[in-house]
Amino acid sequence: MTSGSSGSALFTKPWKGIIDCYRTYLPVNDNTPIITLHEGNTPLVFAPHITKLCNIPGLSVYLKVEGANPTGSFKDRGMTVAVSKAIEEKSKAIICASTGNTSASAAAYAARARANGYKMDCFVLVPKGYVALGKLSQAMIYGAKVIQIKGNFDEALSLVKEIVSKYPVTLVNSLNPFRIEGQKTGAFEICEQLGKVPDVLAIPVGNAGNITAYWKGFCEYAKNDRPIMIGFEASGAAPIVQNKIIEKPETVATAIRIGNPASWKQAVNAAKESNGFIDTVTDEEILNAYKIIHQEEGIACEPASAASVAGLLKSAKAKKISPESTIVCILTGNGLKDPDTAINQGKSEGLEANPDLKEIITILDF
Ligand code: F0G
Repeated sequence: MTSGSSGSALFTKPWKGIIDCYRTYLPVNDNTPIITLHEGNTPLVFAPHITKLCNIPGLSVYLKVEGANPTGSFKDRGMTVAVSKAIEEKSKAIICASTGNTSASAAAYAARARANGYKMDCFVLVPKGYVALGKLSQAMIYGAKVIQIKGNFDEALSLVKEIVSKYPVTLVNSLNPFRIEGQKTGAFEICEQLGKVPDVLAIPVGNAGNITAYWKGFCEYAKNDRPIMIGFEASGAAPIVQNKIIEKPETVATAIRIGNPASWKQAVNAAKESNGFIDTVTDEEILNAYKIIHQEEGIACEPASAASVAGLLKSAKAKKISPESTIVCILTGNGLKDPDTAINQGKSEGLEANPDLKEIITILDF
């Protein structure tokens, strides 16, 4: 693959976002106004500690740090395409249901559309009490109208689907195919950064758009060389694994607290076609991985993102990972999104002292 409209290699020219780089692979044309915050081009970082923990000969584990995107999550890859296309189609408003990150991204790209001289309102429905603080604050300050509903994500999604069927407003959840198109560029970047297609891709699964997008990306990148896709739902919110709608999903990983994913069939298909699987990880496994990623790799992510690493560790222990594999775990969102969980899980909550050397030395306990 040669990336970029001019055929130049990735990263050799000033980065102007995923549409600029992967234009020929995306549904844009000369009439599409490009609304971008220069998303994409996120780090792919080797993870020596996690590699060792897997305890399988010849393994290499990498983390794709999607929290480095402009609003701190992978959603920006899809949102740049969805909002650009919405404007091309003369839409003046976007709407989404969200566990937080989609709303932050939609709000930011709507603001960016306004910066480019377009009228663009953003409306957001989120489950009250279940959105991490960082995400809620983002949607609000970027200027969206944020409605916190007394219900869960699945109920919010049903409502916005009904709203877009009756009112002139564009849906920017991953049911919007342009979102999937943008998000597939994560797969392209990984192949270019590694210099090859990885053997395994580990990814959290919530509404199931991202696993769908990555699989599409890998299929477009190389017909005969594709990774095994392994997706992970939280065990309290695992409709795909349990093969039934979960009416009251629960998990500490609020981003993937979803009981009826929109891209359910596509996720099952990605796992099946790639000879992979979708499995569950418990909240305990998620939080354990969340701490390892921060404390032993020095990389930040939010709890839902840690489901990818938790799932890899579980699968390695069960000997479901082949030796000599190159594995990429998608870290979907930035650690700063969810400061409450970070403080709960950190090592220093409640440690206080008088400004007294003796007292402090006792606490430091060298
Ligand atoms: N990780 C994070 C940090 C997320 O925000 C999401 C989804 C996922 C993983 C799962 O991705 O839905 O494509 O399977 N967040 C959506 C939102 C639902 O509203 O922000 P998925």
